[in-house]
Amino acid sequence: MSEKKIKLYFDCDTGIDDAMALGYLLAESDKVDILAIGTVCGNVAADAGARNTLELARLAGFPAIPVAVGERDYLRQAYLCDVQHIHGDNGIGDIALEASHAKLAPLSAPDLLVELARAHPGELDILATGPLTNIAKALQLEPALGELIGTLTIMGGAALAPGNRTPVAEANIACDPEAAAMVFKAMKNIVMVPLDVTMSHTFEEADRLKLLSAESRFAQAIGQMLERYIQFYINTYGRKACALHDPVAAVLAVQGIGACLAPNVKVTIDDSDGPGRGQTLCDMRGRYMNYPPQRDANCHVVLSTELNMSELLLAKLLSLA
Ligand code: BDR
Ligand code: CA
Repeated sequence: MSEKKIKLYFDCDTGIDDAMALGYLLAESDKVDILAIGTVCGNVAADAGARNTLELARLAGFPAIPVAVGERDYLRQAYLCDVQHIHGDNGIGDIALEASHAKLAPLSAPDLLVELARAHPGELDILATGPLTNIAKALQLEPALGELIGTLTIMGGAALAPGNRTPVAEANIACDPEAAAMVFKAMKNIVMVPLDVTMSHTFEEADRLKLLSAESRFAQAIGQMLERYIQFYINTYGRKACALHDPVAAVLAVQGIGACLAPNVKVTIDDSDGPGRGQTLCDMRGRYMNYPPQRDANCHVVLSTELNMSELLLAKLLSLA
């Protein structure tokens, strides 16, 4: 008997690794139905992210997925792009993709998310690979969002690992700590995919070359974008390689966390103006007793996985149109 398909709302800031996550999700279209994609400011402005998403979806052969523009600023701070050195000026490594003629969804991303959650109570999962502003806005519109959805998988945060935006804060959470604080306070069904696990899974230059020489046009485009991304990561890894942040979260949103060390713990967000701003405060005190149950737990924090993410992701990207 065939398993029921996952119904997914994908919230992203497309972004090179968001593009890889999208490619993975589309390659898993027998397991997951993307009901809509919402974009949020982050790696690029929300409108530019939506354009990238439409172009990538067209390239992969899925031109009809609804794409909605979301929040153009963070809850408390105006958006300012400062990651051109990582993702390029256009968010996708400054490569040019053929324009999509598909129209944007008529609703904003938070409105669309709320509409979908109400239409599919208990059945809609969310994957968020950008700042959490759209999800927080959706919570303002529908405070029961946490009860209406299945699982919210988030790429973001750092539990025991260092941050990447500040010594303690990861970029997606650091961009909008107020939004993240709201989400972690209101929802209990969160899977957090932090730097602890995403930094341990990489594409190497050899993987990039395989993508570049692939038949798949989508895979080729990713190979081109990765030149910029890998260039940035040389200073982190000391070799030509890059982290697989958003795709790791996408894989876990589809395959679940059965093959992961992912204790269920209480996570709160530092939204103060102090040096800890943007830190995910994860209660990992159970570490030495195999993480006994915590009564106030709201989040599975993925620390590691047995899945070979790079092998899996490469195979899926190569399988695209
Ligand atoms: C996260 O920040 C963004 O730059 C990436 O797309 C990823 O979602 C990693 O910290
Ligand atoms: Ca992202």
